[in-house]
Amino acid sequence: MSHHEHDHEPDRRFDPEHVARLDAPERALSIPPAAIVAAVAPRPGEAIADLGVGTGYFLWPLVEALAGEGRFYAVDSSPVMLDHLRARAAAHPLGARVTPVLSSDGQVPLEEGSLDALVLGSVYHELTQRPAFLRSLRRLLRAEGRLLVIDWRPLAEGEERVAGPPADHRLAEAQVRAELEEAGFAVASHPEHFASLYTLLARPGARPRS
Ligand SMILES: C[S@@+](CC[C@H](N)C(=O)[O-])C[C@H]1O[C@@H](n2cnc3c(N)ncnc32)[C@H](O)[C@@H]1O
Repeated sequence: MSHHEHDHEPDRRFDPEHVARLDAPERALSIPPAAIVAAVAPRPGEAIADLGVGTGYFLWPLVEALAGEGRFYAVDSSPVMLDHLRARAAAHPLGARVTPVLSSDGQVPLEEGSLDALVLGSVYHELTQRPAFLRSLRRLLRAEGRLLVIDWRPLAEGEERVAGPPADHRLAEAQVRAELEEAGFAVASHPEHFASLYTLLARPGARPRS
């Protein structure tokens, strides 16, 4: 599944067979749940979507931080991953607060202008057809909403990969920032909360240039 071609773009999507990696306890070393909450800064009552939710590694700390006081959308393009998310929700005391959403072919079936926060945790590097997709994500946000991209830094020369995606899947922060700006986002600097990942805070400020 991970080597199919899609419109000449390599398919870098996470293989659901490796789902256990998403819940490995050592993940808390590179991505501490408290740092997720600090980066997203969720407020009670907000509508928050986690795109590329997997089992909800990024989403559950946000749900718990608000004690379920918000609207939470768990979005994934993989029906298998969404089944894992549903199982997790069934076992979680606040699981009923989370709405699973299956997206397909770059279509996220959420209402335009409805989201306060959209979180892309360790998924940006998997996205295809990004110019059009990012513009569609921008339309999902309220005018004062925010998009958080949290993704893996490229490895330094000679650096060994201890976690995260393969070296050749990683995108430089500057490239991601430029793509977001091209899609019409105003990208603000964001204090660092993670050692191996960068965090970009993008707001649907400017108009798309195309
Ligand atoms: C590396 S996993 C990360 C999952 C989760 N965010 C985490 O950090 O544990 C990437 C997830 O994004 C999903 N995904 C990839 N491309 C997507 C897209 N265009 N739209 C929605 N989900 C996508 C994959 O199916 C997979 O579940």
